[in-house]
Amino acid sequence: MSQKKRRTNQWLQNHRKDGFVKRASQAGYRSRAVFKLEEIDHRDHLIASGMKVIDLGAAPGGWSQYLAEKVGPGGKVVAIDLLDIQPINNVTLLQGDFTDPRIHAQVIDELGGPADLVLSDAAPNISGISEVDQANFIAILDAALDFSTHILRKGGNLLIKVFEFPDLQQFRRRCEREFKRVYTRKPSASRSKSREYYLIATGLLHTKHRIG
Ligand SMILES: C[S@@+](CC[C@H](N)C(=O)[O-])C[C@H]1O[C@@H](n2cnc3c(N)ncnc32)[C@H](O)[C@@H]1O
Repeated sequence: MSQKKRRTNQWLQNHRKDGFVKRASQAGYRSRAVFKLEEIDHRDHLIASGMKVIDLGAAPGGWSQYLAEKVGPGGKVVAIDLLDIQPINNVTLLQGDFTDPRIHAQVIDELGGPADLVLSDAAPNISGISEVDQANFIAILDAALDFSTHILRKGGNLLIKVFEFPDLQQFRRRCEREFKRVYTRKPSASRSKSREYYLIATGLLHTKHRIG
């Protein structure tokens, strides 16, 4: 068996044993990632009834399921991913690259006004070459920040997945220039071995949103 196949089998075994995976499937959620969002939301109260929310990098759709429940029929959830997402009640699905201006225009059409909250769990494919992976990830973070400042209302919030690496402090400083408060969370559903955590930026200072 190749080393890659052995690693994949090991990952599958661990994944099946994972309590969050079991809980997600019992509750009808499509991903264990939903518990990361739930934990952050219980603590920070980012999502409320009636909000307009955008979910970047949304497939398979666990976060969007949770968001649709929380914002309710008076709110709006737009979910974007490169991959196809199976339909979710009360969620508008857009397939494409969120950095593409055409997707941006579609989001503006769908929302009919600025958003209250942008979430990004997006992560690029890993090449294994750390310089390349870091550069790709920073490009995603910068694009998500730029997207947010153009789509959020003044005072709106951003929740974004980040990984611990050297250039991250520069990204954090860029967020601090745009938002009133920036802080981080490492939810317990995020595997402790993973360098992933979440950066939360609240209170957009100046919106660049031009329509609505
Ligand atoms: C970890 S998954 C998201 C899981 C999701 N939060 C859930 O609860 O089901 C990350 C997703 O980001 C997507 N992605 C990465 N770069 C993207 C981009 N530029 N535009 C849209 N989606 C992207 C990937 O296709 C992948 O499906």
